[in-house]
Amino acid sequence: MIEAIDAARSAAEARIAAASTVDELRALDTELLGKKSALADVKAGLGKLATVEEKKSAGQAVNEAMTAVRSALDARIAVVARAERDVQLAAEALDLTEHFVAPGRGRPHIVTQAWQRLEDVFVGLGFQVAEGPEVETDWYNFEALNMPPSHPARSMHDTFYVDHGATGSTVLRTHTSPVQIRVMQTVKPPIYMIMPGRVFRNETTDATHLAVFHQIEGLVIDKGITLADLAGTIDAFTKAFFGEGFGSRLRPSYFPFTEPSAEFDIRTPDGSWLELGGCGMVHPNVLRAGGLDPEEWSGFAFGFGIDRMAKERHGVGDVREMYTNDIRFIEQF
Ligand code: PHE
Repeated sequence: MIEAIDAARSAAEARIAAASTVDELRALDTELLGKKSALADVKAGLGKLATVEEKKSAGQAVNEAMTAVRSALDARIAVVARAERDVQLAAEALDLTEHFVAPGRGRPHIVTQAWQRLEDVFVGLGFQVAEGPEVETDWYNFEALNMPPSHPARSMHDTFYVDHGATGSTVLRTHTSPVQIRVMQTVKPPIYMIMPGRVFRNETTDATHLAVFHQIEGLVIDKGITLADLAGTIDAFTKAFFGEGFGSRLRPSYFPFTEPSAEFDIRTPDGSWLELGGCGMVHPNVLRAGGLDPEEWSGFAFGFGIDRMAKERHGVGDVREMYTNDIRFIEQF
């Protein structure tokens, strides 16, 4: 009887060791320990044994054998299940590095680049930088700049109105010139200031016009400032920004807030002229609006488009391209 038990146990253990899948092992569970297993048969036959002693020792041996087979089975299932899982994980693993494209290094937008270079050049010429609000009152945007409510020059600015306060009292600034007034009100002269910023005009956009664009304003207030200082500053700026091969000229023009007023053009090395912006001697009414005595102080102001500079510098055909944020465009600069 004991030999039969040992033989059944060894056979069971050999089967377990040979099984290589969890499914096989589960099947073996029934086959080796179930009601129809060899060990169960032995157990069923215990009653036929002659003595109590024999029954006892054989019964013990069968129970030990079944316990041993059970733990061999469980241990083997654990090992095989683990191996199967490892195989599955290996098969399902994704190599993320395979699809990883190192992100390119970002850089400032070309308009930001132009803005920063303009600041650098003017700071190099001794100017300071100030900024003002994009939402302005009618007073700062127009009236303080010598454009009273009925002034015809207002119609040159297609204004976006903001629904705030009395009707028509709040606007999106149409130029950076209102910052001139804010600077005069807060900075004691002498003033050598540039004021870059975003401006808004209610216009249909096209290749050379945007409804939202950027300007840089310049303001100089000191004693005895003349048109010659204005022309000299524009020329020094032109050469510092564009290069020694460039020149500048002033052409008579009209702005309500400067008198006399001029447009300024730059001359490229191939001799062609490019219109850049407006300028002039600060109008006495504007000085007064800024709280300065025109008998004591004089000055000049200028303003020009930053987007325009970026466009010309990089040969961009259509200003709108600069704001579609198409990566193929942006990556070029
Ligand atoms: N503000 C004017 C414009 O937007 C430009 C300008 C600025 C002209 C300062 C003269 C002096 O067109």
